[in-house]
Amino acid sequence: MQNKNVDIYVFSGTGNTLLIAKKISDVLNENSCFSKVHRMEGVNPAEINLNSTIGIGFTVACWNTYPFVRKWIDSLPDGKGAEVFLFNSMGDSSLKMIAHIGKILQKKDYAVIASAEFIMPNNFLLVENDNKKALKLSKTLPKVENFAKSIAENNSSKVKPTIISSLFFILTTFVISLWKTKFSQKIAKFQLDKNKCTKCAICSEICPVENITMNGGYPAFSTKCQFCLRCVSFCPQKAIISRFLYKNKTHTGLPLGDIKWK
Ligand SMILES: Cc1cc2nc3c(=O)[nH]c(=O)nc-3n(C[C@H](O)[C@H](O)[C@H](O)COP(=O)(O)O)c2cc1C
Repeated sequence: MQNKNVDIYVFSGTGNTLLIAKKISDVLNENSCFSKVHRMEGVNPAEINLNSTIGIGFTVACWNTYPFVRKWIDSLPDGKGAEVFLFNSMGDSSLKMIAHIGKILQKKDYAVIASAEFIMPNNFLLVENDNKKALKLSKTLPKVENFAKSIAENNSSKVKPTIISSLFFILTTFVISLWKTKFSQKIAKFQLDKNKCTKCAICSEICPVENITMNGGYPAFSTKCQFCLRCVSFCPQKAIISRFLYKNKTHTGLPLGDIKWK
């Protein structure tokens, strides 16, 4: 890493990727770097600081990532050779999608110096019990630490694409592009249990794409949902119900206060 000033841009639906970003930042700072974590949804990609080393982290969704994260990455300016490292978090597998995000950035003249994918607790379908979550974290967090050290010590490695992962990336890019259709938005739309909702409006405040407005005190869901599950997972009353979750069991990787940071 040539530049010790590091800006890490992260999108994290339910806290897992943010936990990783914070850990990377802490380790870099312990190793003579000056690192800061930014919320991707609060930063115009055209305005990122190309004079820093750049970190980009995001959630894996459908072996790809959320469409608005892809849009954010696609909207980055020409990198002019700026160094970038990439990481993601996933429940089980991403089919090496990060290698293909790296290729997109290389085409934009960024120098990808490191990339890694980290298995974290699932926030989707079958959410694990606390013991399984703790086991996953105990295996993954030391790997995150090693990844950050390898960046600071200039001996990092990258996830390499394969022909099969390239084909999957094309396919999953197509699949996530369908999420914005009326059909997808309708069948996957979250439901509200009005008996549980206390009209606290937290869901509306934390939605990364401003898809939730308060209507008559209750949240109303529009058609821009990315299905990141943030509103569902952080609802204090578990009043938002999603088809993506078995028995509406949710996962949060960090407390609500961390997700709301500016
Ligand atoms: C809509 C959706 C799709 C997901 N797709 C995948 C996937 O393809 N592969 C996987 O391993 N995990 C998948 N996950 C699980 C998350 O990637 C994983 O739990 C991640 O650590 C959550 O990170 P976050 O808390 O930062 O959002 C998916 C989660 C959601 C909500």
